[in-house]
Amino acid sequence: SPVIAKTPADFRAACDAARRTGANVGFVPTMGALHAGHLALVTHAREQLSALTTAPPFIVVSIFVNPTQFGPNEDFVAYPRDFLSDVEKLSGVGVDLVFAPEASAMYPEGEQTRVRVQRLTEPLCGAFRPGHFEGVTTVVAKLFALSGPCLSVFGKKDYQQLAVLKKMVRDLFLPIELVGHPIVRETDGLAMSSRNAYLSSTERERALGLSRGLRAAWNAFEAGERDAAALRAHAHREVHAVADRIDYVEVLDPDELSSFASVPIAQKGRALLAIACHVGKTRLIDNVVLGED
Ligand code: PAJ
Repeated sequence: SPVIAKTPADFRAACDAARRTGANVGFVPTMGALHAGHLALVTHAREQLSALTTAPPFIVVSIFVNPTQFGPNEDFVAYPRDFLSDVEKLSGVGVDLVFAPEASAMYPEGEQTRVRVQRLTEPLCGAFRPGHFEGVTTVVAKLFALSGPCLSVFGKKDYQQLAVLKKMVRDLFLPIELVGHPIVRETDGLAMSSRNAYLSSTERERALGLSRGLRAAWNAFEAGERDAAALRAHAHREVHAVADRIDYVEVLDPDELSSFASVPIAQKGRALLAIACHVGKTRLIDNVVLGED
């Protein structure tokens, strides 16, 4: 089973030591309450490293419910935490090191530094969760400062998060190879999420409206539809039927996260369809890249 590092200094020392023995570090940051989606990222990290070099992989997972990425009315306190079962799951997929710091270690008394990515954080979740991405980029920058050079895998479930972090890594010249992993779904289509644990059984049924909406738009795209408003309408119909509140159903340029005003979808060839809505008290997100996924 994995070694547990509780302090930033121990985490840094363990990653440095692994690299000194010639290993390559693979790093998957999480907030815990792990599911098969998280575990798929871990396996992907190992496979990517093995494909790149013959050096042995050293696989690291962080478990930290990061307070700065939750808004004052969000679920920081209620967020599911089950450290022992998380470590057991990670043990099963051959993780070498788990980093599980206290909030006071990641944000010690007197800290004053935040990392902010500008334009990419404005649309979609950025518009509905003020400060969220600043919290994400700040904590992930801290994690990368401790891990040092590594390959790090993030899920496309949080499409905007991946885009924002890629921009941060590039803009700050961080020695990190960021890799995206496809969304892992339950057999009925629901995207796996730690927050799915909040859903009652009737809400769990209604939550299928998100993947149904993506599928409807995907079918239309495959049948030749290239009008953003029409594609959006296919998804919106399904989401509207199940959601208590819709934050957004949007069709955007998958690279810039901007709307298709000047460059049409037919020319771009790909389009991001992204959904965020509330089912009961639970906020759910899902997306597909039409023309790619
Ligand atoms: P968390 O929600 O725990 O997710 C950790 C990683 O797992 C993220 O890269 C996320 O995109 C990925 N993931 C979650 N569900 C997935 C699914 N169904 N399929 C594929 N990947 C999935 O995202 C965070 O934590 C935090 O914001 C973090 C990056 C750790 C910073 O605090």
